[in-house]
Amino acid sequence: MGCTVVVDGFFGDTGKGKIVSYLAVADGAAVCARAGVGPNAGHTVVRDGRTYKLRMVPCAFVNPGTRLLIGPGVVVNPDIVLKEVGELGVEDRFGLDPQCAVIEPRHIEIDRRGHLKGKIQTTGTGTGPCNADRAMRTAKMAREVPELRPYLTDVPAELNRVLDEGGAVIIEGTQGTYISLYHGTYPYVTSKDVCASAACSDVGVGPTRVDEVVLVFKAYVTRVGAGDLPGEISHEEAKRRGWDEYGTVTGRQRRAAPFNFDLARRAAMINGATQIAVTKLDILYPECKGLTSFEELGPEAKSFVGRIEEEIGLPVTLIGTGPGLKEVIDRR
Ligand code: IMP
Ligand code: MG
Repeated sequence: MGCTVVVDGFFGDTGKGKIVSYLAVADGAAVCARAGVGPNAGHTVVRDGRTYKLRMVPCAFVNPGTRLLIGPGVVVNPDIVLKEVGELGVEDRFGLDPQCAVIEPRHIEIDRRGHLKGKIQTTGTGTGPCNADRAMRTAKMAREVPELRPYLTDVPAELNRVLDEGGAVIIEGTQGTYISLYHGTYPYVTSKDVCASAACSDVGVGPTRVDEVVLVFKAYVTRVGAGDLPGEISHEEAKRRGWDEYGTVTGRQRRAAPFNFDLARRAAMINGATQIAVTKLDILYPECKGLTSFEELGPEAKSFVGRIEEEIGLPVTLIGTGPGLKEVIDRR
């Protein structure tokens, strides 16, 4: 328990949302804080047959007892925040830090033209231009937006208080290691570092307070937007294998490649991972669908998981066997 950071070891879209929501329920998290860039992320949670696509509110909303926070490092779009909070009915347990920077219409305009749209192929959500303004010390802050006022709270103080009292905290990272501004395939990256230490900084939790870093990989690799993808297969081949996916935020078909052990090993190093989650095992091995016990897995699926553990030198503790919240093998 204590403080768990959940981050992505590939290019985003590995299923962090599902892992965060599972952990929130399984561990009865007192609070979950969203770190990362901003509403360029789309996290998907499937509960009781209903699909939720979240861009601002933490995925831990599925656990009614969990407080939901957005850390000061995140840039927010007030329209999306207020819409999600209202639709999910989490007004009484949602908060964001007054120091979150605010995306304005001009940021979105800049993000949808020039080299950001043409060369980098960003999500067009205004996060990069907003972070640029933040670095220029000209960004608007959440504390200046009257509609957000009811939700403003000191996020670092709340999180550290919960940790002092022995409660469980989840820090929800976004994007992925290889689209980090520092550790990714620059310039084809997002506008911030998004690795585990950056996620802690985003929410105001120091590195000495972290107990577990869960590094999430999908059973194959996907990437949206421009930039290198080793071992990339064609869109047609991806469809044939059932690896075709479409962006949560942009609807673009994701590019796909087989699981990459070299990238995985390096991501474990950079993030200081303590354990690994592997999602969508059922897409590689359909007979795994919905299983919740490791012993029931077929020999090929078991040996794939074993190879990941061997190559990276860390335990695979969580395995996703379907989109549903409970379709998880928990070996912790
Ligand atoms: P930006 O973050 O919108 O500036 O986009 C920069 C690059 O990161 C583009 O290639 C995007 O497709 C990619 N990207 C940003 N957010 C995500 C995400 O949540 N999942 C996957 N790719 C993302
Ligand atoms: Mg996503």
